[in-house]
Amino acid sequence: MIVGLSNSKDLARKVARKLKVKYSDIDFEFFPDREIHLRFKTKLKGTVVLIQSMQPKTNDALIEALFASATAKEIGAKKVILVAPYLNYMRQDKRFRPGDCVSNEIVAKFIDDYVDHIFVVDPHLHREKNLSHFFKIKATKLTANPLIAQYIKKHIKNPLLIGPDWESYKWARATAEIIGAESVILKKKRYSGRKVKVYFGQKIDVKGKNAVLVDDMISTGNTLLRTIEHLKKLGVKKFTCIAIHGVFAEGALKKLQKAGAQVITANTIENPTAKLDISGIIAEALK
Ligand code: R5P
Repeated sequence: MIVGLSNSKDLARKVARKLKVKYSDIDFEFFPDREIHLRFKTKLKGTVVLIQSMQPKTNDALIEALFASATAKEIGAKKVILVAPYLNYMRQDKRFRPGDCVSNEIVAKFIDDYVDHIFVVDPHLHREKNLSHFFKIKATKLTANPLIAQYIKKHIKNPLLIGPDWESYKWARATAEIIGAESVILKKKRYSGRKVKVYFGQKIDVKGKNAVLVDDMISTGNTLLRTIEHLKKLGVKKFTCIAIHGVFAEGALKKLQKAGAQVITANTIENPTAKLDISGIIAEALK
């Protein structure tokens, strides 16, 4: 059975339809003091797959997923699978300053306690290659790269794929290789959650090309906005920004659109730009 939690009901319904298995929602409400109350509407048995993106309302979403996983086991599920199309806290993967909390490891420990197997779409793995570095349970990463490749092939002629920082090669370069397009990977220095500088370490020939900026996620949008500023100086006027996870914090989407970008994301986080449907990839992985 597939259960769609608050942030991923549409996606979960699509996955259930593709797998031809039963689908159910969960009743979710806030108490007046903002504590969360959950209630499964059906009896659970066998394997239960919970699907929950950890955006928006990132902390509530995580608590909902933990409460639902624990409850599912208590009321009859033999095995609990959590599909997190977007998993939060992955960028806090190091004690950057003394006293910092290494959030991704703590989140993984909570999930380990209640879940048997987790699937994550394009997790932000920076220093480590695999989710098994943090999770004790079985942890599988999926990627939306084939969807980005299909989209570019269908909609964009002569694309030049631009990754704004070295980590983005996993999306920008990998996708360029699938479609046989050119790619460049830039350099970025992050000063804070909001401040970044992007450097063009090399000469880029944009003549006759359509600039496609590819990254795993858009949070404040500043990474892509700084990249767009550079490209404008080279005479580029039209930009497509493709990211898997559209977090869009602090008005990021509007800022990017104002800068002239068309923005495309996957439905790992539900929002109006989510044109890339990940349900087929999730369904296939769950078979
Ligand atoms: C970080 O390395 C990620 O790959 C993204 O580039 C980053 O999280 C985007 O954040 P923002 O939109 O706030 O610049």
